[in-house]
Order: sequence, then C-alpha cells, then structure tokens
Amino acid sequence: MNKPRLYSGMQPSADSLQIGNYIGALMQWRTLQDENEAFFSVVDLHALTQPNSPSELRQKTRRTAAQYIAAGIEPSRSTLYVQSHVPAHAELAWILSTITGFGEAGRMTQFKDKSSRYGADATNVGLFTYPVLMAADILLYQTDLVPVGDDQKQHIELTRDLAERFNSRFGETFTMPRPVIQKETARIYDLQNPTSKMSKSAESDAGVLWLLDDPKATAKKIMRAVTDDEGSVRYDREAKPGVSNLLVIYSALTGREMGSIEDEYAGRGYGDFKKGLAEVVVGEFEPVRTRALELLDDPAELDRALGVNAERAAAVADRTLADVYDKMGLLRRV
Ligand code: AMP
Ligand code: TRP
Repeated sequence: MNKPRLYSGMQPSADSLQIGNYIGALMQWRTLQDENEAFFSVVDLHALTQPNSPSELRQKTRRTAAQYIAAGIEPSRSTLYVQSHVPAHAELAWILSTITGFGEAGRMTQFKDKSSRYGADATNVGLFTYPVLMAADILLYQTDLVPVGDDQKQHIELTRDLAERFNSRFGETFTMPRPVIQKETARIYDLQNPTSKMSKSAESDAGVLWLLDDPKATAKKIMRAVTDDEGSVRYDREAKPGVSNLLVIYSALTGREMGSIEDEYAGRGYGDFKKGLAEVVVGEFEPVRTRALELLDDPAELDRALGVNAERAAAVADRTLADVYDKMGLLRRV
C-alpha cells in the first residue's frame, strides 16, 4: 500500500474524446495505474467555466467516465469519479483562494489567453480561479505525481507554490506534487491542420478523430488527412508535419519504432500508408467504442460505479480537508 499517489483529470467538454486524449492521456493513465495508487476525475466543476446546457453537461460527464473505463481505467483498482460528487474540492478551493495572490492568479497564461479571447465581460470569475480549484483537486489526495500536457505545467507550479505556502504558514499538511509532463511523441495534431494541436473544441471536426465515431468516418478522415507532395513516408516534424503526425499515431498505437514503420512503407504511396493507419486506428478504437456504448446503455449501473468510487475518493479528501480546517483555526463542529 505504499505506492505513489497519482492524480489526473479531464473536463467533460465533448460527447466523445479525441485521439489526442486517448494517446496523450488515457493510454498513459492506463499504464500508470499499475505502479501507482491512482485517482482519475471527470472535472465537471471546471467545465462550468464554459457555458453548458445542463442536460448536455450531464451527458458529457457520463460519456467521459464511460470512455475512461472503456479505455482500460479500472474502477475496481483506480479511483475514477466525478469531481462534483466530492464536495471537499469546492471547499478546499475556497480555502486556497485565500492564500493565492490576485496577481499570481492573473499571471496564468491559460487565463490570460481565454480572457483576452472572450473579453472581460464574457470572462467569469471561475475562469480566474480555475487553477486554484485544480490545486485543490491535487492537494486533497496528498498526490505525488500529476500526469498532464505541458499547457498545464504552470498550474502545477502554482499548486506547488500554494502547498509550500500553506505548509510553511500552518504546518506540514500537503504532499508536494510533481508534474509528469507528456512526451512530445504523445502530442497529436489536427489531421487537416497538422501544426495545431488536435482538440475537442476545434472549429472544424474534419481533422479530429473521435473515439466514439463510426469506424467508416474515422477511416475517411485518415484517408483525407493533409500530407505533402514528397510522397515518402518519413518522419520530419518541421518539413513534413502531416505525415509525421500520422507516423506518431501509428507508432503510439502499435508500440512500433518509427523507423520500422518507415521501412514497411518505403517506396509505397501515402494511400497505402493511410490505409494501413486507418486499420490500426479503427482496430484500436473499435473495442473501446463498443465497450463505452455498452456502459452508456446502462446509465444506472455506471452511476452506481461512480458513486462507489466517489465514496472512496471522499474518504481520502475529507481527511485532508479536516486537517486543513483545524490547522487554519476554523472552529470544529461538535
Ligand atoms: P483537454 O481535452 O484539452 O481537456 O485535455 C485532456 C487531456 O488530454 C490532457 O491530459 C491533455 O494533455 C490531453 N490531450 C488533449 N489534446 C491532446 C493532443 N492533441 N495530443 C496529446 N494529448 C492531448
Ligand atoms: N486543467 C486540466 C486540463 O485542462 C484538467 C484538470 C483539472 C486536472 N484538475 C486536474 C489535471 C488535476 C490534473 C490534475 O487538462
């Protein structure tokens, strides 16, 4: 029982995850759950910082959880739960906001990007305190390791600063978490626009491979992926971003070295290569998609499993929160 604690999460911001989420997050989580005591959340409170229809948010939350499980996150082993099911997240976020500097939060680049994109009037305070809630997620579980993409690195830095500040003001309370930054080879780009990261919120979905998409649609998108005129299957991120991205996907899903894939397709056209890749992707997605849809067919059972996991999460989180309240001098209720 002395495995390192690991924590990560994803927002329920779409009906389906995309292949970047699968390769960059879920595949790694699946491996990491073996050697760590892992907590994986569907961060629905974070998703409230974007406008949502209530019925859609509920659906996206279930669908995201179902895809975690279908991709191999085991709810009997890893604690897989919905963030809002554990009230301690919102409570610790409030506490941490009282030791976060206004300027410190204002320096977060994700906030600066989003607020300048939407304008001050359309920017809510939740977007500003988003990283404080994320810090609460991590610190509640006495987390050692946090696997994330490098866009989240600054949020982990803030989390560490807050942990250190709290510990030095009120006494040793929080474990100091460390980020595990995703490898460059786990970063997937848009198939139509291979210099920008593939995203659930892309403007057009022509370059996005959805985990829950129909296999035919997935194959078609791969066949139409942007390449170049050289005609040779070769990895070169700078000169050949489209082909390189397809090679990364191929290699990530098969576990094969880039060179061996290049060799296999040497002297053959992009059409052959894309056909091969489509088989790989569809073959990988098919069982995940089938399992996810099965789980979604029985929402009551899925909700039950999430409830059991939330209870397990709450047991850990409540202990940390009680310690925090005590240390800060909040009067204990008798
Ligand atoms: P998001 O969909 O942006 O909320 O990201 C959720 C998780 O998926 C994070 O761990 C991201 O790093 C990962 N992720 C999202 N998009 C990609 C991508 N294009 N390539 C690799 N990983 C990604
Ligand atoms: N902000 C993260 C993202 O956009 C999601 C997230 C919320 C998270 N809380 C977390 C990730 C805690 C790791 C740990 O990807």
